[in-house]
Amino acid sequence: MPSGIYVAKKLLKRMHMTGTLSMAVRDRFGADHHELESLFGSVLDAFEANDREGIVQLWNEFDDRLGKHLDAEERFLIPQVFAARPREARTILEEHWHIRSRLVELGCRVDLHTARLETARGFIDDLRAHARHEDEILYQWADGHLPASEQRTLVAALTAPLQDRLHSA
Ligand SMILES: [Fe+2]
Ligand SMILES: [Fe+2]
Repeated sequence: MPSGIYVAKKLLKRMHMTGTLSMAVRDRFGADHHELESLFGSVLDAFEANDREGIVQLWNEFDDRLGKHLDAEERFLIPQVFAARPREARTILEEHWHIRSRLVELGCRVDLHTARLETARGFIDDLRAHARHEDEILYQWADGHLPASEQRTLVAALTAPLQDRLHSA
């Protein structure tokens, strides 16, 4: 067997064993941020079109997905980061509390049809700032320090809701 192919096969086998064949934490969670942002873009479109039903439906989908994203980070990532970088982990947790309280507040306004476009736009700005912050503190740390099995658990916590949705569609 040519040595290049042999090395590639060995590398592939090692990637399977360590779990690095699957997407890295940073890539997977970064992709989820993009999907959430795109979903939120649809919420804003519904706002601009004054599509009340669309706003509620898209908002509920966004609320559910963002909640699962935050849950996955809080259950499987922040505790581990806390052990290594407590101050930074606490800051990320505080940002999550802020995001969750805004989610509830905006959700109530959406239910009552009193949410305003400007308020919704402000919320996405908060989310973007948080995403930049945790990219360095959480995701890059996770890719460099979290054991492969824990990385898989973390990524699975994020993708499980998607699989559930596909099965129930
Ligand atoms: Fe987060
Ligand atoms: Fe995140």
